[in-house]
Parts: sequence; structure tokens; C-alpha cells
Amino acid sequence: MAKFDNSFTDELRQRLSLVDVISRRVPLVKKGQNYWGCCPFHNEKTPSFSVSEEKGFYHCFGCGEHGDIISFVMKSENIDFKEAIKELADMAGLKMPEIKQKSAAQIESEENYIQITEQATKIYQDLLYKDSGKHALEYIKNRGFSDEMIKKYRIGYAPKNNIIASFFNNINRDKLTATGLVRIGDYGPYDFFRDKLMFPIFNAHGQVVAFSGRSLDGSEPKYINTTDTELFHKRQTIFGFNFARDAIHRNNRSIVVEGQIDAIQMQVHGFGETVAPLGTALTEDHIAILCKSNRNITFCFDGDNAGQKAALRACTLILPFLRETSDVKFAFVTGGKDPDEILKNSGEEAMRKIIDNATPLIDFLWDSVNKNYLVNTPGGRTQAEKYLKDCISKITDKIFQNEIEQEYNQRKFNQWHKWKQQKYTPIIEIPDVDIMTVNLIKSIVQTYPELAEKYMDFFVSLNISFDEESQKTELSLKDAEKFIISFKLQRYIKSLKDEKLKLLSNIPEDAGEDYRNKLKEIDENIIKANEKLELLLDINK
Ligand code: GTP
Ligand code: MN
Repeated sequence: MAKFDNSFTDELRQRLSLVDVISRRVPLVKKGQNYWGCCPFHNEKTPSFSVSEEKGFYHCFGCGEHGDIISFVMKSENIDFKEAIKELADMAGLKMPEIKQKSAAQIESEENYIQITEQATKIYQDLLYKDSGKHALEYIKNRGFSDEMIKKYRIGYAPKNNIIASFFNNINRDKLTATGLVRIGDYGPYDFFRDKLMFPIFNAHGQVVAFSGRSLDGSEPKYINTTDTELFHKRQTIFGFNFARDAIHRNNRSIVVEGQIDAIQMQVHGFGETVAPLGTALTEDHIAILCKSNRNITFCFDGDNAGQKAALRACTLILPFLRETSDVKFAFVTGGKDPDEILKNSGEEAMRKIIDNATPLIDFLWDSVNKNYLVNTPGGRTQAEKYLKDCISKITDKIFQNEIEQEYNQRKFNQWHKWKQQKYTPIIEIPDVDIMTVNLIKSIVQTYPELAEKYMDFFVSLNISFDEESQKTELSLKDAEKFIISFKLQRYIKSLKDEKLKLLSNIPEDAGEDYRNKLKEIDENIIKANEKLELLLDINK
């Protein structure tokens, strides 16, 4: 039978969610770890058909039907393997590869590859604890790595000489160069990694397929990675994923950090679900792989400008993968630090705080747009709107897309337009304490000492001098008190309006929830005070 390259079916499984694919035909409801629905392969009224995204299998407890994403499409549509692959490739937006039998030669070359990288890993691991690797060991220990961690992540040392080239002296050169570990120069084969601290990069099965080498003498570049090979594609490889997979399922989320040392330190300090891309730029493939595993992702970037940019990039890349149940957040490590330094200097709790305080995607995108465009000008608002619209259009679920659009429309109205309107509403001036009022208050105080006593604090706040004698008032005690209370209320309302005006004329750059709440609170107080005032004037008429 014509066989597809395993890596293509693997890629389909990685790209597509089993639950998504089955949901097109069978309504599913999440219960516990799995999804349940009525089996499409036999007649039933109560759901006994279970789907495990995690394991990539469905199983019917009624009829025993069982399979994966490919067999589901084959059986439910009654089509053959090739047709199913074609349909799934369309869904994933992937081009069908040439059908090819994996040749015996190819299988052998992959086996050779893994054998070489495995052997090389061992050589590097050994050398880290030998004399030549002394400085590398000292370096990695200084960075807070225990022997146990070094062993688990199989960290090693690539010496200054061509150790790999000479160790594999007897094997076919092509096999050796295929791994990226050895290159051929004018004077023969030489090692790609020399005098480097070596971090193996594992595939999903835990096999070493490549390496990332850190320079130890401060030379640039700081890191070099194996260039792409048959079995290693940097754009599709997520560092630490093989170690993090269980924790991602257990904790129902993944954390993405920028650096591989950050990922390792996070993993051993209570954040087992942490991974990192190789190098700083996240790709669509990285996001697809992560989302396939779990759509709850907290991105944790440096707090600097580059970090903000990287976060926005991740944000736009993930939009097509968003579901209404996805919990995607953005955390920032401020102060020029990365998670590694936070863990080292401030501890796990400080790191947990940063992760727990992460901003949800909807707010992050809104805040970024407000930061990046001059939303207090019509032109800036237009640019911002266009950008937002473009982002929203990337969300594939139409109902969800519509919800998000409405949410942003509301924010645009409440935060961009309503403010504008309020800003230009003429404010009705309530006169300050004029001379007539001053005289009236003085005479009330003179006539009714009990009122003077009762409202002493208020009178003091008016800054009136009560030293001189003044005339007695003709107002009754009741009317006099009514006057004082209404005057007091008017003053209070004026102070509220002044406060609001001050807030509106100086909208802070990071105006958010707090700012809006503050405005709302003032408005509510104004309304309440006005009601009181009306009541007072009405009832006592
Ligand atoms: P440390 O200094 O070892 O803690 O590294 P870091 O992770 O703090 O470095 P940085 O924040 O500068 O970079 C984040 C990630 O980008 C690193 O973990 C590497 O994967 C990658 N990176 C950094 N510098 C280079 C480089 O010079 N070349 C390549 N290819 N990748 C790099
Ligand atoms: Mn670092």
C-alpha cells in the first residue's frame, strides 16, 4: 500500500483538533477530561461515544468503535485513507505531499541520525564532567543548575576540538553531516559546535534531534542552534515540550517564555507546563502545536519594547486558533529581567504573581491598540479601528467573532466616544460663596446657635469670618436649616463636577477599568446628590 510519510500524518494530527473535527458531525459536551456525544456509528439516544483530545482517540462504549482522527473521517464519510488525508489536509490548510513509500534507505538514514545524535549527547554529557568542561560546568552550576537538572535535560559540553568528527571518523560522511553536527571544510570535516554549553533539543518521542549551544566566553552569537535538518525544523520545534506535555494536561494550560534556560528553570520551579520557542520569534507552527495540546496559554515575555512586540505578534498569530473556551493571557516580566532571574532573585511566589496577574488576550489587544495609536485623534482612532477589525476577522468561529466585535464596539463607545461627548458638555456653574450668601449664613449663625453648632464643620470649610456682629435672619429655623443643607449639597455637587472635569481633561495613557470606574462613581454621586437636593426643595415647600 502506498504509504504517506509518517511525518505528514503526524503533522495533521498535530495541526487539527480531534474534538473540532468530530464536532462537525457529532455535538459533543465536555465532561471531565473527555468529550461525549451520541455515537455516529450506531443508533443511540444517550451518549456513550467519548473523545479524548489528549490521547487523540475516540471510543464508543456502546458499540466498541474506536480510532483516531484519520479513521474517524474514513469511517464517518465512508472514504479511503488517501481521501481522508486529503480532506484533513484541506481542513488544516496543508498541501498534500507526494505519496511516497518510506524507503528502506530513508528509514535507515533516520535511524542512523538518531543513533549519532544520541551518541553525541552522551559524549557531550561526559565531557561536561571532565577537565576540559570544567568552565562549562562551573558556568551552568552558577546559573542554578543542580546535577539532577543537568542529568534530566542532558546538558553537556562540546569541546574546542573536533570531537564528533573524529569519533565518527569511520562512518559515512553524508550520514554525519545530515545531523548538522559536522560540516565539511577545506581541510576536511569539522564540528559545528565548539566550546559550547550544549542543550539537547528533543522531539516528541524524547529523542535528541538537534542542539542549542550557548557561548561560554561572552562571544556572539550567544546561542547557536543546529541548522534545519531532515528531522529538525526550528520553526516547528518547541523547546521543553517533551518534558512539559504531562504538566500541560494536568494543569490545563501551557506557559510560553522567551528563552530555553527560562523554560528549564520554570519547569523545575513549579511551572512544569512551561516551554520556549527556539530563538525569539514564535511561528504559526509553534502556536498550532501548542493549541493542539491545549488552548489555554499564558505567554510570558520581557517587559521591554521587544517583549511587547513579541506579545502582540503571538496575539495575532493565535487569533485563528481561539475558541470561546480558550484562556489566552499575556504576562510581562518587568525591570529588564527574565523568568530565570525572577526565580533566582525573588523566588517562585514572585513568579506566580506575575503569571497570575497576566492580562487576558481581549484586554491585552485593546490596551496595545490604545497604546500604539493616537486614539484621542480621529485619524488615530481610524487606524486603531482598522487594526482591530483586521484582528477580529482572524477569529474563525463566527459567533465568537461577533461577540468580540461587540465587546470592542462597546469599549470604543464607552472609552473613545462617550468621553469625547462628555468633555464638551457645558458645565453649569454654581456660584461660589457670594457676598449675599455669606451675609445670610452669618445671620443664621447669629440667630440659631444650635444650627451653628450642628453645621460647624461645614461653616469652617467656607472660610467665612464670623467675628463681627450681624443682623438676625427673618428665616424660620426650619427654612434656615433647609437653606444650609441645600447650599451644602450644591457645593458638594460642584466639587464632584470639578473633579470629573479634571479627570476628563487629563486622560492618562494607561486609562483602563479603574479610570472608568472612577468616572462612573462620580456620575453616580452627582445623580444621588441631585436627587437629594430636589427632594429637599420639594418636600419642604
Ligand atoms: P541567557 O543569557 O542564557 O539567560 O539567555 P536568555 O534566554 O536570557 O537570552 P535572551 O533573552 O537574550 O534570548 C532569548 C532566547 O533567544 C534565547 O534563549 C535563545 O533561544 C535565543 N537567542 C538569544 N540570543 C541568540 C543568538 O545570538 N542566536 C540565536 N540563534 N538565538 C538566540
Ligand atoms: Mn536569561
